[in-house]
Amino acid sequence: MECITISHINNWKKNKKKFAAITAYDSSFSKLFANQGVPIILVGDSLGMTIQGHTSTLPVTIKDIQYHTKAVRNGTSHTFLLSDLPFMSYNNTKQALKNTKKVIQSGANMIKIEGGKWLIEIIKELSSRSILVCGHIGLTPQSFNYLSGYKIQGKEKKDENRLIDEAFLLEEAGIKMLVLECIPELLAKKITKNLSIPVIGIGAGKHTDGQILVMQDVLGITVGKIPKFAKNFLSESKNIPEAISKYIHEVKTGMFPNKKYSF
Ligand code: KIV
Repeated sequence: MECITISHINNWKKNKKKFAAITAYDSSFSKLFANQGVPIILVGDSLGMTIQGHTSTLPVTIKDIQYHTKAVRNGTSHTFLLSDLPFMSYNNTKQALKNTKKVIQSGANMIKIEGGKWLIEIIKELSSRSILVCGHIGLTPQSFNYLSGYKIQGKEKKDENRLIDEAFLLEEAGIKMLVLECIPELLAKKITKNLSIPVIGIGAGKHTDGQILVMQDVLGITVGKIPKFAKNFLSESKNIPEAISKYIHEVKTGMFPNKKYSF
């Protein structure tokens, strides 16, 4: 099977072909998701909550990401694999380079980092060494203390303008993909339209180029507070493969996310 590359994802944006992505943390699920046709898998630091049972992503280490990236890669050789650099593992360029090396050598195609302007030098340096970097703005879970919880971002005009500025600055610095989390649909639309790189949304409405969800949310096994943007696809399906096909289908056809799952 042909390996999915950043060129494929860029073409999907250019040709307005919507695409689905999902998190995975082990080889069984990554194989199943790949077999159902999911083109992009994220080894998210959400594993701190979904796998390790913490109340945030903050305890996740670079070793954890390496371990899960290797496991996920063992399940699929052709899927485009994105892995998070966890909290405080990219404080400066030197540290970011050292930890990126570990994650890429574990099987990731691209690394994802959370934040705005302060990342510019780090992104420039990684990009100059041919590393694919994905940005992540809006609700950035590694900053949940600073943000006073897991809340929608960009509702006030000043925050909206800041997020638009950050998206442009990050693109200019060299990111090749952007995740927008938990922001109003119209703000995500504006950012997606004005960037030339693919934009993936989670709780950012239907106008982004792609969508991503945490696998536990897709399969309805999240216990406790379920985010407004999360849809349980298993409840409308006979089994897990069918739920994943339904998720891909609804994203590709623009059925998901509708108003119920957007801000
Ligand atoms: O860690 C993660 O799962 C993520 C997604 C919420 C995009 O960053």
